[in-house]
Amino acid sequence: MSFLFRHYLLLIALVVAIVIAVIVFSSNGESGDGPIADHGYSQEEVLAKGEYLVVAGNCASCHTTGEGELMAGGVAFETPFGTIHSTNITPDLDTGIGSWTEWDFLNSMRHGIRPNGEHLYPAFPYPAFTKVTNEDLVAMFAYLKSIPAVKQVQPDNDLSFPFNQRALMAFWKFLYFDSGEFEISEEQTEQWNRGAYLVEALTHCSACHTPRNILGAEQEQFYLSGGEYQDRVGSGEYRTWVAPNITSSNRGLGLWSHEHLEDYLKTARNEFLESFGPMNEVIMNSSRFLNESDVSAMALYLKSLPAIEEPRGVAPDDQLMGQGRTIYNLHCGTCHLPTGEGDPEMAPKLNRGSLVVQAENPASMINAILYSPELPGSPLEPRWLDPMERFSNTF
Ligand code: HEC
Ligand code: HEC
Ligand code: HEC
Repeated sequence: MSFLFRHYLLLIALVVAIVIAVIVFSSNGESGDGPIADHGYSQEEVLAKGEYLVVAGNCASCHTTGEGELMAGGVAFETPFGTIHSTNITPDLDTGIGSWTEWDFLNSMRHGIRPNGEHLYPAFPYPAFTKVTNEDLVAMFAYLKSIPAVKQVQPDNDLSFPFNQRALMAFWKFLYFDSGEFEISEEQTEQWNRGAYLVEALTHCSACHTPRNILGAEQEQFYLSGGEYQDRVGSGEYRTWVAPNITSSNRGLGLWSHEHLEDYLKTARNEFLESFGPMNEVIMNSSRFLNESDVSAMALYLKSLPAIEEPRGVAPDDQLMGQGRTIYNLHCGTCHLPTGEGDPEMAPKLNRGSLVVQAENPASMINAILYSPELPGSPLEPRWLDPMERFSNTF
């Protein structure tokens, strides 16, 4: 068979596979007559529970712009396929989810499907939210229906062809997406299962901390071993960030105790460091509001994950190391100490315990150096005597 002919056959096979996947996966999700879950709580209890879960899912960080109204959408996400905007999830009838039923909400969260049958993009982390239980979904929906309705249409997305064709997401889902509630592991304790549920389903750590393949799907075999994506830096520009390895590798959470992790998620600080960059929103808008037993469960689950080591790059030569040492001693050592050991009043340790410094990919560390590690700020009191300046004019 000639080379061209073989490629032609492959192309036909691919198109046929896509067409079949689009047809098979173009279901409209689930539907039913009665309520999705009947839990016997009072309306007040359901709303309080829904609010707690919506905070755990950090819906507000992605669905509220800096100056915008709560959950009115319009936040832009830069992806390798173009810009996509979050939607209005207030109960406005025309522009939000005011006319949705519980089943519509379930279908978006569990199956990534809109009421009109369109597929949603996984910039909305439904690959994690799919695991949220029916009972929790009902409470979250009830809470979202109770917040003020805002009339606001989101800006148009700017995705390149073929990614602007929502129908093709059926093919993506066929390859990479499994829907279904979280399954309890009988071999593990109740607390471990609670932690796994919170991390895997609601708080979606893996949406940022797991590497993705070229079609934007999380690579399960490298679960939580470090991901890369575009987000804003202090100057407002978008740059690559690395969400470091949070498995038990020594470059990950290996040196952090259960308490270090709890402190970090609950107070944005621990013995090693203070949060900065994109984690500020995760902690300040979400994890710090979780109750102690939930945060403890998350720490227990995360610390139980086996270490996944990142492949090491080529070691720098002596000349480059020498240059680095000189620059470090000149600009950094006063606060972080020449040893990198840090100082409780001046600056955090860099020699161990800082995941972004230990990561193979230095993108987040470089953002911290060039644009300064922005502190979480109010209501936290400043921790260090002097903030670290931006070095974008120096280097
Ligand atoms: C990482 C950012 C991110 C987080 C966190 C997030 N969303 Fe979204 N969400 C998006 C984006 C982006 C879209 C638009 C997807 C699209 O257009 O296909 C979206 C779409 C949706 C939709 C579909 C709306 C429609 O009009 O079809 C619903 C419902 C939704 N999100 C609810 C939630 C809830 C509830 C939470 C919290 C549990 C949440 N989202 C958390 C980014 C996010
Ligand atoms: C929106 C993306 C995003 C989500 C969601 C997210 N992270 Fe992160 N995380 C990052 C980025 C980016 C960094 C590196 C820069 C920084 O610290 O902000 C990071 C850093 C960290 C660090 C290392 C901090 C340091 O300074 O060395 C830990 C620990 C961490 N994340 C844990 C978690 C846990 C646990 C979750 C889930 C509850 C989570 N992250 C969810 C993006 C995210
Ligand atoms: C004026 C004192 C000061 C100087 C000089 C300084 N830093 Fe910092 N640095 C800090 C403080 C304070 C923080 C903690 C802020 C935070 O993480 O929110 C910090 C945080 C960091 C972090 C983030 C660590 C983590 O995981 O949280 C890195 C990386 C870093 N500095 C590297 C450098 C480098 C490289 C230089 C020299 C180019 C430097 N710093 C110069 C004070 C300083």
